[in-house]
Amino acid sequence: MGHLLNAIECAPPNCIQCLPDNSPDATAAHEHRSHTGQNKHNTQHQPYTMKESTQTALRAAAVLGVAFGLCVTGLIAADAKSNPIKEAMGKYHKAPKGTDPVCKKAGDGLATKEEIKGMLAAYTAMAAAKPPQGDEAKWKKLCADLVSATAALDKGEAGAADKFKAAVNCKACHTDFKPAAKK
Ligand code: HEC
Repeated sequence: MGHLLNAIECAPPNCIQCLPDNSPDATAAHEHRSHTGQNKHNTQHQPYTMKESTQTALRAAAVLGVAFGLCVTGLIAADAKSNPIKEAMGKYHKAPKGTDPVCKKAGDGLATKEEIKGMLAAYTAMAAAKPPQGDEAKWKKLCADLVSATAALDKGEAGAADKFKAAVNCKACHTDFKPAAKK
């Protein structure tokens, strides 16, 4: 049991969380005992009782499955975090139906201080990221414009909202830098 769990290669440190608190061997031994007793008790109700070895194997598989699932979940979360572009798009350019995304509110001068500060951080991170496609020099320029327009909004500069609206032009940026949707 123990060696099986160790065999999973969980690169991210947070995957330690996948493993049960108490030692896997202790848990297995404990479950084994109680289940054996239960089976004896229930024999007459159960037309078919699994062999103990089968049960142990299934339980091992279940533990491994859960551990593996959590590791994969951790990796996916890490991936979303490590893509500042998608994070900025999802958080500030997208909104539930019927509500305005933060970037729209910002262009109308209606975004809160916190929202503007959040956008500024998100765009700064985005500017440092590599776009999935397109010319990197042009990417840096578009992102720099967006960052400076957002900084102007943050400072409450005159004309900042118009500057921001021009810089946050979805199509101008997506045409070059957003990969076409896969069919
Ligand atoms: C300065 C460049 C830039 C601007 C401006 C921009 N986007 Fe994007 N956007 C991107 C890039 C690059 C991607 C692709 C990211 C990827 O696939 O890794 C993207 C992807 C997206 C996605 C998909 C995100 C995902 O999780 O796959 C949405 C939604 C989106 N943009 C909405 C918008 C909207 C709405 C606007 C305008 C209000 C906008 N974007 C303005 C660069 C930009």
